[in-house]
Amino acid sequence: MSQEISVCDIGSNHMLKLKNFELKSGILQSPMANCTDLPFRLVAREKGMKFAFLEMISAEALLYDTRTTREILKTVPEDRPLGAQLVGCNPDKMAEAGAMLEGMGFDWIDINLGCPVPKVTGKGGGSSLLKEPEVAREIFQKMAATVKKVPLTVKMRKGYSDESGEEAVLIAKYAEDAGLDAVTVHGRTREQGYSGKADYEAIRKVKEAVSIPVIGNGDVVDAESAERLRSMSGCDAVMIGRGGLGNPWIYREIEQVMNGGDQLPAPSLDEIKRTLLRHLELEIKYEERTALFQMRRVACWYFRQRPGVSDFREKINHSQSLDEVRHLIQNFE
Ligand SMILES: Cc1cc2nc3c(=O)[nH]c(=O)nc-3n(C[C@H](O)[C@H](O)[C@H](O)COP(=O)(O)O)c2cc1C
Repeated sequence: MSQEISVCDIGSNHMLKLKNFELKSGILQSPMANCTDLPFRLVAREKGMKFAFLEMISAEALLYDTRTTREILKTVPEDRPLGAQLVGCNPDKMAEAGAMLEGMGFDWIDINLGCPVPKVTGKGGGSSLLKEPEVAREIFQKMAATVKKVPLTVKMRKGYSDESGEEAVLIAKYAEDAGLDAVTVHGRTREQGYSGKADYEAIRKVKEAVSIPVIGNGDVVDAESAERLRSMSGCDAVMIGRGGLGNPWIYREIEQVMNGGDQLPAPSLDEIKRTLLRHLELEIKYEERTALFQMRRVACWYFRQRPGVSDFREKINHSQSLDEVRHLIQNFE
């Protein structure tokens, strides 16, 4: 059942090894729908991110080759290593889609048991599987039979509405029994959505219940919060979610401190603007059709800590061209 696993400390001097996949880091970027697209990942990699996931993909949409899915799958050789995440509730289709992703060359395949969106939960996928552990178990078993070469993992919330973390513990045990390589736990319930504080104790419960690696997730925004998650939960690796939006420096910042180095200085406004302009160029290169819409959000992520952001948001939301967006970024003070 269990494959060779070695997980050590979290910084870049250390290693996460799942099946034959080795990562010289214990810091990962989570999948985020409409956020972790190719330009996002390329900018983050340039600033030190070592591993990312695509946005979640519906198993059925993948099998039917929809246009949206092809957009999500877009990648380039320098966008590696890269994981893909499947959402769905039909064990056979999930297994078929998993095999397809493995065949496409992704380095890691994850199963989504966290998405709270009614469009997904209404069909029985995402976090609703926390209430259907037997279906989740069948998905794990069938996928483990078709995804054999690359790591197969599950990312879940700590529970649907139950606060105790016991739902996640049961799912994690099923995952381990089915031969999955690791589990990620986001320390919130489905009912909490993205509000409230992530519960690291629930992640610890999962860590104590299984011997496969546990990746902790929730509220990591800097080195201090990453260290808090690690020490409170005992997790083997840290997954960054919203903290990576508009902050591609976060991965190096955390690694530096976890490896015993000094805190890196915060990026200057000039560096932020240069990086954001790079993000803009990559949006134009790879996502031209949606670049204007996406840049209105992306630019606000980068400036969110700055006092001028509300005024900027107002202006960028009314911008009509990418030239105008570029000009607004260059002139941000
Ligand atoms: C806009 C948005 C989209 C997300 N999309 C996904 C997704 O596709 N798959 C997934 O497993 N989690 C998704 N998440 C959840 C995040 O990956 C992460 O688990 C969650 O935000 C908690 O981490 P954080 O507190 O560090 O943000 C999404 C979250 C947000 C806010």
